[in-house]
Amino acid sequence: MNIVILGPGAIGSLYAYHLDQAGHSVSVWGSRHDQYHEFSLDNQSAISLVNRSLSHLEQCELLIITLKAWQVETAITPLLDALANDTIILFLHNGMGCVDLVAEQLQGHPILLGTSTHGALKRDRHHIEHTGRGQTLIGAWNQQGERCQFVSDVMHHAFAECGWTNSIQSALWQKLAINCAINPLTALHRCRNGDLGTPHFETELSAIISEVHQVMQAERIDLPLAALTETVQTVLKATAANFSSMQQDIEHQRKSEIEFITGYVLKIAKHHHIEVPNNQRLYCAIKDIESSWSNHE
Ligand code: PAF
Repeated sequence: MNIVILGPGAIGSLYAYHLDQAGHSVSVWGSRHDQYHEFSLDNQSAISLVNRSLSHLEQCELLIITLKAWQVETAITPLLDALANDTIILFLHNGMGCVDLVAEQLQGHPILLGTSTHGALKRDRHHIEHTGRGQTLIGAWNQQGERCQFVSDVMHHAFAECGWTNSIQSALWQKLAINCAINPLTALHRCRNGDLGTPHFETELSAIISEVHQVMQAERIDLPLAALTETVQTVLKATAANFSSMQQDIEHQRKSEIEFITGYVLKIAKHHHIEVPNNQRLYCAIKDIESSWSNHE
């Protein structure tokens, strides 16, 4: 397939690498204006992918968006005219609510949403590390997307486990609950994911998860609280040595994804008249840090 990766950061480059090695025609669209994106994955030899090619965009059959959620709207808008009407668009990032912001502009395109548990780290501009082997789940966001189940086969063939789900909203909410529990706390306490497994965080973690669970129930996402708690604990253990993406963003004074993670839960909770004080407190604490930076947008 002709594939363009919009946002070749750590996760985007990880997918780009494997799809390229599987024989697809892959290019990237990054914020830098270099002609090529050259990088290596772990100890494998370096590859060089075309960057920001308009003709690649025009021929693109699958656009995979691996930007930070808050970057998507600004980044995709100027590219839309170049895309064919039937280009499949796959949103693959942390957080929820992003697709709603651009849905009107994307009318006609098959839209897919995905969630991934892979861990990846950008050591520097040319070196990516695959720090945690995970899975990718993909599902349709619109009717046209329902005909694109083959995309999960393409990705499964190129990379590790990738599957199709008819209940992508449930998968996204579970990932959102994981991110609500892990990301703001690790950013505020400047700690690794595994540190949240200590008794010190037990009460706070369960309060956060239980609030998100109430909102999920109101959204008719049917999952027992015990199962959701277990899922968060499993991810905590599996990624114990990692710094979460929000921890890294806050550490480096980069705008975080709080608006599309905890902020999304607050928005939906408000809609259902549900109180979520613990998530509200974390949201405000991260926003306070962000607005204290002198370069804050
Ligand atoms: O955002 C992240 O860092 C990841 O989604 C997760 C699963 C919390 C692991 O660090």
